[in-house]
Amino acid sequence: MQTIYIIVNSDMKREIITYPNPLLLKISDEVEAVGDEIRELLDDMVETMYADDGIGLAAPQVGINLRAIVVDIRKGDSDLLQMINPEIISSDGIEIMEEGCLSVPGMLVRVERAAEVVVRYLNINGKESEIEAEGLLAVALQHEIDHLDGRLIIDGVSRLKKDLYTRKVKKARGER
Ligand code: CO
Repeated sequence: MQTIYIIVNSDMKREIITYPNPLLLKISDEVEAVGDEIRELLDDMVETMYADDGIGLAAPQVGINLRAIVVDIRKGDSDLLQMINPEIISSDGIEIMEEGCLSVPGMLVRVERAAEVVVRYLNINGKESEIEAEGLLAVALQHEIDHLDGRLIIDGVSRLKKDLYTRKVKKARGER
């Protein structure tokens, strides 16, 4: 007898790629049609973000160069955002926070960003939506959207600190 397993809605944790993987430095492509494939990717990204205790994740971080992000700063039960083709349409003020990134493990960088942003995006049903954000949510959205343009928090650190970090990760991997 053969047992057939049908796996329903199996959100899977994916592997997070880390600096200096070149996929993290590419400009990601727009999602042209919102269908099951992109929804599955977004669900997997949520699973991955929660498993690694992050508050945001962008598709390039799981090796997919598409414009899709997830963010959950966990202030409430309904804060999860899954965004397709997100775009900052206005911004205001200045906010400086110390940021970390799952793709740049072990590094914290003070980054200057807008304090308030309005982001336009498609939701998982392909509906055009807008969100106004400030504080940590605004920072998280800008951080994730940066990933879609190949920008990382490490871009803002000094050459010396960057070189030290690169050497450290290569050493940890047994490379020279
Ligand atoms: Co990041």
